[in-house]
Amino acid sequence: MSNSPFDKEIVDQKIKQLRIPEVGKASIREIVALVNLVEEETGQKYIRMEMGVPGLPPAEIGVNAEIEALKKGVASIYPMVNGIKPLKEETAKFVKNFMNIDVTAEGCIPTVGSMQGTYSALLAAGNTNFKKDTTLFIDPGFPVQKQQMLVLNQKFETFDVFNFRGEKLKAKLENYLAKGNINSIIYSNPNNPTWICFTEDELQIIGELATKYDVIVMEDLAYFGMDFRHDLSKPGEPPYQATVANYTDNFILFISSSKIFSYAGQRIGLMVISDSLYKREYTDLQKRFKSPTFGSTITLRILYSLSSGTSHSAQWALAAMLKAANYNQFDFVEEIKEYGKKAKVMKRLFLENGFEIVYKKDMDEPIADGFYFTVSYKGMTGNELVANLLYYGISAIALDNTGSNEEGIRACVSFVKREQFDNLNERLKLFDINFQDKSNG
Ligand SMILES: Cc1ncc(COP(=O)(O)O)c(C=O)c1O
Repeated sequence: MSNSPFDKEIVDQKIKQLRIPEVGKASIREIVALVNLVEEETGQKYIRMEMGVPGLPPAEIGVNAEIEALKKGVASIYPMVNGIKPLKEETAKFVKNFMNIDVTAEGCIPTVGSMQGTYSALLAAGNTNFKKDTTLFIDPGFPVQKQQMLVLNQKFETFDVFNFRGEKLKAKLENYLAKGNINSIIYSNPNNPTWICFTEDELQIIGELATKYDVIVMEDLAYFGMDFRHDLSKPGEPPYQATVANYTDNFILFISSSKIFSYAGQRIGLMVISDSLYKREYTDLQKRFKSPTFGSTITLRILYSLSSGTSHSAQWALAAMLKAANYNQFDFVEEIKEYGKKAKVMKRLFLENGFEIVYKKDMDEPIADGFYFTVSYKGMTGNELVANLLYYGISAIALDNTGSNEEGIRACVSFVKREQFDNLNERLKLFDINFQDKSNG
């Protein structure tokens, strides 16, 4: 490793300074801090694959609408806790146009990012039935949602779906659900970190079991429309974004503006609660929150307490972006296809230099190229790979941070610039030269 492009001593010193006990296990934010320090000291740039930052400019329609709203004076007015009417209505239309799912505007609620949406939903679901005190994570998943469970002090169980795709998912899920303690199931689709996308058969299994065992499915669609194997960009025309909502009424969908509209900084997302769940009266939930329905508990108890609604101007921005998409005046999918194009090149570079894709397929079909992919290197654990790549100017997080049982890392393409591809190739080549003998012998 003596000829690694980054000075080992500097990297090690910064790890010590940040008091990271085992760098391979570091969280996203720890890696961000470490890489910032090393870049500052060395003047060299990392290939940064650790954090899912959008990496594209924000959708202009949103920015303009937000400026206009601010000029009109919305900054001085509290927004409705359950969202402004135009946003609620455009959301219901968007869900119809791009998912072919019917919901009324009432259940379409803006939140301060999807983060606040899942936090609120996990809290509410955790109190729907005092006997059902546990959320089931279909992992790998977004690590911050586990942190939300920690903060909420609520229980969760989890399994890695790697060996339970297709029909096998049914028995695996039923094993958990039959115990009677599960109140909700949560997963992201497309999946952060692996970019697997559940097939219709798998979504049907999840949906039907959710109905059978009366649990709430939380479908995190932070990467809405980004399964680029299918053209999901045409409003009102199939194919549509795949969803569990076709197979159960017990659903909450989370649509984030962060990635699809590159609007992460304004912290606005949407929670879409099915009509029947919105109106549902859970006796235990009523006891806990003194509010009649699931929907009113979310809006008038939880969101009211957390932030009293979502930024007024950002709601106008999102309403405008959704409206433009609904009327086919804004092809938001085209804008973000760049992620898929970059992933294709980056995956090739990794594969040509001794790496392998970890989560490779959705049943028979190779996974799509998108925001993330997963790679492993022979003979190395995911933690070792994260640690070793740091000396080669490549930063990522280990898969075990995400509830995966596989050895490897998550690579996020969004922040890597095309101008860095040659550099990535050189660094990977050198890495492979330096490590291949060790792994063979
Ligand atoms: C799966 C998943 N859910 C939620 C989020 C956060 O979304 P937001 O920025 O809307 O809070 C992310 C962001 O990376 C994500 O990957």
